[in-house]
Parts: sequence; structure tokens; C-alpha cells
Amino acid sequence: MRSRRRGFELNSTLNHKEVIRGKDLIINSSEDSIKIKTPLAMQYLGGKGRIVDQIFDCIDNNCKGSKIFIDIFSGSGIIAYNALARGYNVIANDIQPYSAIFLNAILNNNKTGINKLIEKLKEIRNDSIFNESRKRYFKEYQEEKRYFNLSKSDHFDWKAYKQFCDDTILISGTKKDIIELKKRERWTLFLAYYRNTYFGVKQCAEIDYLREFSETISDNQKNIY
Ligand SMILES: C[S@@+](CC[C@H](N)C(=O)[O-])C[C@H]1O[C@@H](n2cnc3c(N)ncnc32)[C@H](O)[C@@H]1O
Repeated sequence: MRSRRRGFELNSTLNHKEVIRGKDLIINSSEDSIKIKTPLAMQYLGGKGRIVDQIFDCIDNNCKGSKIFIDIFSGSGIIAYNALARGYNVIANDIQPYSAIFLNAILNNNKTGINKLIEKLKEIRNDSIFNESRKRYFKEYQEEKRYFNLSKSDHFDWKAYKQFCDDTILISGTKKDIIELKKRERWTLFLAYYRNTYFGVKQCAEIDYLREFSETISDNQKNIY
């Protein structure tokens, strides 16, 4: 992803709707309550998740009485999140738009409607993940499933699995290729370009499905994330 040459500034202050229990942050709105668990879902190169306690011990010892925490290179948001959970007013910043979106969801947005959304997400089944344009990848998913099942036994042939991955991998793709793909298929970007790279076939189908699904929810619900 190309980064935009500017930072995003996100502010959050704890208010009466947010309650800290241990290291989990419970956010309550008028109708919902949601527990955000640590560590955050994103694994990050150089992430500080494992040394959070040491970082905050050091800050607590050296910056007594400080109320504001500014995380200028927030990345996954793990430090900003922990600062929030420890009662600081947090300002987070990162040049990467995906990080800004993630941080905005954690720090700023109201969680009203999140439980309804979670219920909708729980209803997702394979037949919806592999519907429409994604159908053509279903056979590969079955193949992947077969390998994953075999991996639990003594009969797993990793060379055959490697071959399967090599045969499906496609990580290059120009903007023109992607425009052409969009004409032929809908909501298959991850399946077409990233299956068997960082993600497996089913994981890519889930990402594409969720991207499509996000178009169907109300603007109000979109703001949750
Ligand atoms: C090592 S990561 C931060 C990790 C983070 N503290 C964590 O534990 O997950 C460094 C971050 O700095 C951001 N960054 C680099 N240059 C930047 C700049 N000029 N302005 C804002 N953010 C920047 C990168 O996008 C990246 O997310």
C-alpha cells in the first residue's frame, strides 16, 4: 500500500462509557457492551506488545502525574491501547492509513450496534464465503482443507502442499491487471492475488467476503470499525 505523506492524528479520552477491568477495555454504549482484548489482532513488525508492562513501568516511574499520552508511531496501536487502558488521555498518530483506521476504531468510535454486527458475522457460512465470483476458488479451498486435515496425521506430504501453494500463488499484479480482474469478477481481490501468500485460500475468501459484506451494512455500523 502506498502511504500518504502525512500523519493522522487521533484523539481519545476516556469517558464514563468506558470501564477498565484488568487489561481488557470494556466499552459500553447505550445498547451494547464490548470487551476489547489485548493483544490486538494485528501482529506487527517491531510490535511492542510483549514489553508493554516494562514500557509503562518505566513511564510510571519517570513521568509521575502525566495525564496525556502521545504515541507518535502507533503502528498496531498496542501501546496507545494500553495507555488508554491505564487511564491516559491518548493521542495516536501513524502515517499509514490502515493503522489510522484501526486506531480510529479503537480510540474514537462509538460501539453502538456492534453486538448486532457480531451476530450477523457469526451467521457467515462457507456457502456465502464462496458464492458468486468466489465460487471458482472453491475447489482450491477443498484441496487446502484436505492438506490441513492431513497435516494432523502422519500422512502429510509437505512437498505436495508446497507444490499446491506454488501453483496458486500470484503476488504480482499491475493496476491494469486489477482493473481487468474487477471487470471479470467481483470481490475476489485477495483470492486472486494473495491466496497462499500470507493467507490461505479460505482466509482470502473470508477477507473478500467481509469486504463485500461491509458494503451492505449501514453507515452507522461502518463507523464501528
Ligand atoms: C515499528 S512501527 C511501530 C510499532 C508500534 N509501536 C507497535 O508496537 O505496534 C513504526 C511505525 O511508524 C510509522 N511511521 C514511520 N514514519 C512515520 C512518519 N513520518 N509519521 C508517522 N508515522 C510514521 C510506521 O507506519 C509504523 O507503523
